[in-house]
Amino acid sequence: VEKQELLYQGKAKEMYATTNPEVLWVHYMDQVTALNGKRKVRMADKGKVNCAISSQLFTDLRTQGIENHFIEQLGPTDQLVQRVQIIPLETVVRNYASGSFVKRYQVDYLQKFEQPVIEFFYKNDALDDPFLNDDDALALGVATSDQITEIRKLARQVNQHLIQIFTKMNVQLVDFKLEFGLTTAGDVILADELSPDNCRLVDMNTKESLDKDIFRKGLGEMVPVYEEILQRLQHSEEV
Ligand code: C5P
Repeated sequence: VEKQELLYQGKAKEMYATTNPEVLWVHYMDQVTALNGKRKVRMADKGKVNCAISSQLFTDLRTQGIENHFIEQLGPTDQLVQRVQIIPLETVVRNYASGSFVKRYQVDYLQKFEQPVIEFFYKNDALDDPFLNDDDALALGVATSDQITEIRKLARQVNQHLIQIFTKMNVQLVDFKLEFGLTTAGDVILADELSPDNCRLVDMNTKESLDKDIFRKGLGEMVPVYEEILQRLQHSEEV
């Protein structure tokens, strides 16, 4: 397949059409944003490390039977993915309290949940991605009831597999965000990316953040920490 016109420029990725209408070309940019794009910074090597982490995690999940849009990694910063219609729901899975949960409910940071908490946010930049529940999503026509049931099931399965992967790396999986898409056959599959941009990861011993919170909170250099995550991931795959 060959890369064709730019279809969509996101905050950290560009999506291009290809000569195959079923396939998109994703380019991971050297850019990081916070506050829904209001803060934007160029960061060398960030695209490369996120592309590598995301490719590895999608591959691992496929091995575990979780269907996703990833086809193959091309260069260091590019992937081919299956074209899907993105469902405008940001599905957040939380194992420990952090971020907006701590802010909303005033509970302790890293308080453990008895069972994973699944939350939905309406993926809508103009509205600043508001919190919404299943009934809201139905009322807005964002997804069908069956799709929401499937998304919840898949989100829990992804969580189980990611916890296993990160535990081997001595990393605590605090929370993460997933996006799902519809295939032309109407199946719900995992899409978007899986990287420290959309997960909260904490070192099990030091409790240091190993994710985008470094940028959000100005805790230091972010890319070297992402590279550390990639190294631990590659190392744990070898053993
Ligand atoms: O900010 P909040 O606590 O709701 O974020 C929960 C998880 O979802 C975090 O891992 C965060 O990185 C991710 N997230 C995301 N994109 C957003 C909002 C949150 O990847 N627009």
